[in-house]
Amino acid sequence: MATDHEGITQAPGALPIVGHLIPLLRDPLRFLKTLSAHGDLVQIRLGPQKAVVVCRPELVQQVLLHDRIYDKGGPIIERIGNALGNGLASCPHSAHRRQRRSLQPAFSRACLREYAAIMTEQIDTLTINWSDGRTVDVAEKMYTFASDTIARTLFTAPSAAPAIDTVKECLPDIFRGIYQQAVLPPSVNRLPLPSNVRYKRARGRAWAEVSKTISLYRQDDETHGDVLSMLLKTRDDEGEALGDAEIHAQIMTLLVAGIESTAVALTWAMHLLCQYPDVQERLRTETAEVLGTRTATWDDLPRLDLARRAITETLRLYPPGWILTRTTATEARLADVVIPPETTLIYSPYLIHHDARFNPRPDFFDPDRWLPEQQHVRGAFIPFGGGARKCIGDNYAMTLATLALSSIVTRWRFSSADEQPPHIEPRMTLTPHGVQVRAECLQGAPG
Ligand code: HEM
Repeated sequence: MATDHEGITQAPGALPIVGHLIPLLRDPLRFLKTLSAHGDLVQIRLGPQKAVVVCRPELVQQVLLHDRIYDKGGPIIERIGNALGNGLASCPHSAHRRQRRSLQPAFSRACLREYAAIMTEQIDTLTINWSDGRTVDVAEKMYTFASDTIARTLFTAPSAAPAIDTVKECLPDIFRGIYQQAVLPPSVNRLPLPSNVRYKRARGRAWAEVSKTISLYRQDDETHGDVLSMLLKTRDDEGEALGDAEIHAQIMTLLVAGIESTAVALTWAMHLLCQYPDVQERLRTETAEVLGTRTATWDDLPRLDLARRAITETLRLYPPGWILTRTTATEARLADVVIPPETTLIYSPYLIHHDARFNPRPDFFDPDRWLPEQQHVRGAFIPFGGGARKCIGDNYAMTLATLALSSIVTRWRFSSADEQPPHIEPRMTLTPHGVQVRAECLQGAPG
């Protein structure tokens, strides 16, 4: 097998010029799953650019824990930063601590409890138009639900309503555009293609609305108990307030990082419960006992144990953040292999979660593998990443998904309305399309 650098194996099948881009774009999940057979560090080529895929949990942990050496950076992160304004998810290590400290209080347990009240209200609107025996496009519903809920968490003032509408309308083109900007060469991204025009227009509109909302909040002395109010009040270690550009970047980052991943997780969870009706029934037994027919709230969470495990197992099978990158800031040593500075490293929660050495029977949906007595390989479950750059919204997402899934299950029985498995569009997240579900109304449900 070819080695490009001592200890790094080259993945077979690279074509001239495009490298591995074709399998990576056409069937990325299958391609990723083949890589660990070639070694622990496997080099792939994305057009002219090389990247090393890290295929063992303990090595991924080293990358995640040493965030000064394995930094955010390189062309892909730079393009994401350009799109969003260099907020928390794309800023380099040198800016990260300050940014994280300014956002962290908005994700405290006390704040989450407040947000959970918004979540419960939004769950009530999620199924309002469902009717007995009708088919529901789950991906579309979950997108609307996640975007409404997260946007309301970020800005609740009535003056922000136009921004919420515009952002919701623009985000699908922004999500597609960011992925395209990240993987295609800049020369292609500069062409006046319809997709580029749509992306630029959507980004411009969302950008302008968020800016307008920030200035409206600044003019208003009231605090609204939302993330934007908190960011306006925050002072950094030197006692300085955050500037508009920084606040803007954080809001755009939270919208983009939070909405699609949470919507996608809920869509996959619904799909899996259709595939495993026995788990769906067990879950209904739990929710019937805890909720009856009402909507779940924060206080119910400790008793919604199977719902939480079902979401956890969904995130293992279909981690929304499926491929992530780092760049070595200095020379690094990983598995005794010297990695030169400015090497792009890839870690893939999907690859690690589907490797049978680390997650036995990896393709099987089994929420019971998350019972407390079960043993796990350390670092083999990483849907939220790890280390200093671990997802800031992990508890928010788990809370939202657990409350929503259990509230749906307790009132509706659902089954697949389509024989075909969902079509997966690999964007920044693993996005499923065509999750059509037939919803049967149970006693007490509206409709
Ligand atoms: C199921 C839902 C979610 C999944 C699977 C997910 C996944 C991830 C992953 C894997 C990372 C680490 C990226 C890396 O290592 O490069 C991350 C970071 C991040 N996520 Fe999430 N996320 C979810 C929901 C959310 C929500 C709801 C928010 C906010 C509202 C959010 C905001 C962020 C931010 C700001 C970062 C960057 C953190 C930093 O670098 O300090 N995410 N997320």
